[in-house]
Amino acid sequence: MASTELPPSELGTKDHWDNVYEREVANFEETGDEGEIWFGEDSVEKMADWAVENVPPSTQPFIIEVGSGNGTLLFALLDAGYDAKRLAGIDYSPDAVKLSKMIAGARGGDAISLGVCDFLSETPSSLEGQASSVGGWDLVLDKGTYDAIALGEKDEHGRSPAVGYPARISQLLKEGGHVLITSCNFTEEELKTSFATYETGLVYHSRVSHPTFSFGGHSGSSYATVAFQKPSPP
Ligand SMILES: C[S@@+](CC[C@H](N)C(=O)[O-])C[C@H]1O[C@@H](n2cnc3c(N)ncnc32)[C@H](O)[C@@H]1O
Repeated sequence: MASTELPPSELGTKDHWDNVYEREVANFEETGDEGEIWFGEDSVEKMADWAVENVPPSTQPFIIEVGSGNGTLLFALLDAGYDAKRLAGIDYSPDAVKLSKMIAGARGGDAISLGVCDFLSETPSSLEGQASSVGGWDLVLDKGTYDAIALGEKDEHGRSPAVGYPARISQLLKEGGHVLITSCNFTEEELKTSFATYETGLVYHSRVSHPTFSFGGHSGSSYATVAFQKPSPP
């Protein structure tokens, strides 16, 4: 089975995410609860630490999270010193964007650009001062979005919607830019197989270690975080 071929599930539908975020908006309005943190606080911290080390705030990078949900990762970058005006999040669920904007307001992150965009069919808008949204990002983040997309309905040729995703991500990146992805559906090796290809032009850059578990004589992590880079021309 190719690494992008998972059986379709409810988690791959927009209806599912619309329902999740409708509930989370109501919860936030009622109790101030910011909603679920996918893969837990530790994954957010580790992705933010990786960014600070490899794409530091001092370089004034343009950063976008694809499928930004409630925006937790972007707010961690804000706290780490990145310029809010150079941070963006897109999500295809309008209530996800509404929730992230409400939280941004409460956390002093109003200047973060948060918008509705179906990444499989639309291109995110560029930010002020950015030459272009295609080929204009220094860092693209994905925390659980490739996972969700890979659970979507297959097309008439039996292809998963995840098939073209790594190439679309690569198109967003500047030469020398990075993508950092965390997944619970794909192993590090599977992510390498899908993202570091001739078509994407991406190369493996580094990985983030997560706690391992052992079961039945095998050991592994429950999720993987891997970085790829779009090489600069020689
Ligand atoms: C597992 S959640 C992770 C959300 C967020 N990254 C986080 O860590 O909290 C997956 C997210 O991807 C979004 N998503 C799925 N397919 C998408 C698409 N085609 N375009 C944009 N967003 C999408 C969902 O709405 C959802 O917010």
